[in-house]
Amino acid sequence: MTPLARVIAEQIETTGPMPVARFMELALNHPQFGYYRTRDPLGAAGDFITAPETSQMFGEMIGLWSAVAWEALGAPTPFTLAELGPGHGTLMADALRAGRTKPGFVEAARLHLVETSPRLRARQAETLGGFDPVFHDDVAGLPDGPLIVLANEFFDALPVRQLVATEGGWAERCIDRQPGGDGGFTFTMGDQAPVADLPPIAAPGAAPGTIFEVSPAAQAVAGELGGRCARAPGAVLIIDYGHAAVAMGETLQAVRGHRYADPLSDPGTADLTAHVDFGALGRCARDAGATVFGPIGQGRFLLSLGIAARAKRLMAAASAQQADDIEAAFQRLLAPSEMGNLFKVMALASPDAEALPGFTA
Ligand SMILES: C[S@@+](CC[C@H](N)C(=O)[O-])C[C@H]1O[C@@H](n2cnc3c(N)ncnc32)[C@H](O)[C@@H]1O
Repeated sequence: MTPLARVIAEQIETTGPMPVARFMELALNHPQFGYYRTRDPLGAAGDFITAPETSQMFGEMIGLWSAVAWEALGAPTPFTLAELGPGHGTLMADALRAGRTKPGFVEAARLHLVETSPRLRARQAETLGGFDPVFHDDVAGLPDGPLIVLANEFFDALPVRQLVATEGGWAERCIDRQPGGDGGFTFTMGDQAPVADLPPIAAPGAAPGTIFEVSPAAQAVAGELGGRCARAPGAVLIIDYGHAAVAMGETLQAVRGHRYADPLSDPGTADLTAHVDFGALGRCARDAGATVFGPIGQGRFLLSLGIAARAKRLMAAASAQQADDIEAAFQRLLAPSEMGNLFKVMALASPDAEALPGFTA
């Protein structure tokens, strides 16, 4: 049993079966044993590889997007340039390098990073030290005023509740100790969910056993950022894997050492994520007063920002091996069978913002 499994088992003993969202929160963020508190999950030696770690082209395109968005917002100076869950800081480093092509953009930016992992904070401070980043535990800590926010694979790490359709209505899906006392965990049904939590369109008629996931944490962040865009010039870029409209089904998954794992086994030692419900994020941001662009597929977004020309330029100066690597990364980021369609891009912006790059025809 991992130390965190013991903590979870004790809580279940004391208060009964634990909602899935609470389990996910503890597995990822327990102050002592949580996954993100104890390790660096990124890279070949870790558990998974993200788009910015796949190729510098990804962060560069995001940097160009940010610089054009900044101009569309009226080039506010100074402004907050924030990233949520910056990992190794690679995306931001590549973005700031590319952003230098827009005069005044980098000089106007004040860097703020929302990160809970002490280990990754240290890594980000190293990568981005030249920009004096200010760290925050959550988005509420970001300064008021004009801002551009970037979030790649951040929302999928926020806890989801799972609701299960039953003959008598929706019930909270929970986690209990496995009978027999071998230290494992198993899914079980908890209380019937309050009506306010029901999925907006699919509640009536869902077949018993249907699972619906909802992330109050993700929706709160989208609402907070949408409100900020309504009060000051702002643009937020969200990139993640997920669905564009309400979808039923379980997407909670665990990854350890670049392989799928059982989400309930050895909590704290595997990454737990769930698909992002972009429809819900857009609704929350709109309700808070923001304009919403997308979501569109990552492939289409990157192509419209000019990644093909960038790849060509990099390849022209590359060795044969490097050119193969650039081609492979290009395919990984754009191919519909890889990240091109499953990964989606959505932007939130001030209501009077001009059309943002990447989202026009
Ligand atoms: C999947 S990694 C993505 C890293 C980076 N954006 C990239 O694309 O390489 C998730 C990031 O979000 C951070 N994170 C996870 N949950 C968080 C939370 N609740 N608040 C702030 N940061 C969080 C992690 O520590 C990590 O930096």
